[in-house]
Amino acid sequence: VEDDLSRFERVAEDAIRTVVRHLRAELEDRTPASGYAPLGEIADTLDLKRWIGEGGMREADFTAFLQRYLAHSVQLHSPRHIAHQVSVPDYPAAIAALVNGFTNNPMAIYEMGPAAATIEFAVVNWMLEKVGWTPQPVRPRPGSRHSAGVLTHGGSLANLTALLAARARAAPDAWERGAPADLAVLTAPGSHYSVARAVAILGMGSNAIYTLPANRFGVIDPDGLEQAVTDVHASGRRCMALVANACQTATGLHDPLRPIGEFCAANDIWLHVDACHGATALLAARSRQLLDGIELADSLVWDAHKMMQVPVICAAVLFRRSECFDEAFHQDASYLAYGKDADSYDSLPRAIECTKSGLGFKIFMNLAWRGERALGDYVDDRYAAARRFHDIIAERPGFECPYRPESNILCFRYGDDDDLMEAIRERMMRDGAFHITSAIIGGRRHLRLTVMNKRTDEATIRRLLTTIEDYAARLRDASQPEPAGGAEAARPPGGSSPRAHQNDHRRPR
Ligand SMILES: Cc1ncc(COP(=O)(O)O)c(C=O)c1O
Repeated sequence: VEDDLSRFERVAEDAIRTVVRHLRAELEDRTPASGYAPLGEIADTLDLKRWIGEGGMREADFTAFLQRYLAHSVQLHSPRHIAHQVSVPDYPAAIAALVNGFTNNPMAIYEMGPAAATIEFAVVNWMLEKVGWTPQPVRPRPGSRHSAGVLTHGGSLANLTALLAARARAAPDAWERGAPADLAVLTAPGSHYSVARAVAILGMGSNAIYTLPANRFGVIDPDGLEQAVTDVHASGRRCMALVANACQTATGLHDPLRPIGEFCAANDIWLHVDACHGATALLAARSRQLLDGIELADSLVWDAHKMMQVPVICAAVLFRRSECFDEAFHQDASYLAYGKDADSYDSLPRAIECTKSGLGFKIFMNLAWRGERALGDYVDDRYAAARRFHDIIAERPGFECPYRPESNILCFRYGDDDDLMEAIRERMMRDGAFHITSAIIGGRRHLRLTVMNKRTDEATIRRLLTTIEDYAARLRDASQPEPAGGAEAARPPGGSSPRAHQNDHRRPR
């Protein structure tokens, strides 16, 4: 009789074969660009009620189930998925995720994952050095001056951790007494919502946020900082931290870190850089200059599951001065805090999570197999591709681009109707023609591309523009009174994807 481990081996091999077959079809552009369908339809297709209620899945059932599951998943490997800032994972890191899934080392304390903890320690030190900071020694001497960091389950937790440390510096007894009412966090209008959430979670109230002067794309104007601080003081508050973006989520534009960093240093203000998306450019020969001055930050966050081609979820929060990080948490957990004197590394005292996955293993695998240089070249390549795509879009009649992209995020409009913009996006996604996003920029809705996939090229973008023109015509026609001859006569030929043809019977809404 086959034991469970042998069965695991066989089912895992089958699962990998099925996943690879699907990903190859995605890569070769033979699948719809999105797995979108209404929830009820997916629940029926996957037969969820029966499987959850009755169990009894066997190998052949699982393979059929997995095929349907993959068909209704986000199609990140499709060149026509140009939507969110989620990595198209490279296989070395994906293998680490698979191994993590089965070895299940909750490594926040060393003895529960010595190899994973050791790798996290090494990877965090590598990141610190990339920023230009001093790595943490295994056994710091008293008074040792170095930097520090920890890997977290995502950039939102990383932002919260950084602001917690900033709060501890501004109000050392806030952990015990709660947040004082006179703290302000200065940030750009386009900061990620996790920053505002962190401020709320820290008990400071959303009124603690002071929105900095910025240009029309939300990029901080360093000349306005002096006045901002004067305003904060005039309202009886203190500056707890200034949060800058590298880069901003909606636009992919970078705040000018050097002048901001110099201002913060001169005024003793904690500078936190949200570099969730952009930090991987530290490895990129041509794009690194976008991060000039990042070493002046007190803290920064870096999502590996964005541009490091690591599968979700995997981020880092880094601190220039280790002692500032030490102040963040005032918690003792005697049953967990072993090993302080041993040659070991417990990330638990410095992390929000108690149970943590072997996150560093995923980063390590991409570094070990591909090398730092290749990861940097990927960033340069995709950032340059976004600029070429911008030029193609800007030249096309009817399309306009509000700014030239700095990273691999770019925005544009077609026509002048905000509602139409979102309707086009949604219909293309539902039909599986293209998966893109949209964002409000300068008060107007724009279509938004994040160019993560190496196979998204100029031909893909030209095809996207033609598809947008087709959809816009269809949607505009649909909003007109029907011409003589009825709906059939009014409908132009279907969209360009297999599913768009299948769905020709559906009227645009
Ligand atoms: C600038 C920025 N900060 C923070 C986040 C949140 O990161 P996560 O999704 O890893 O929690 C994002 C996500 O897109 C982001 O773009």
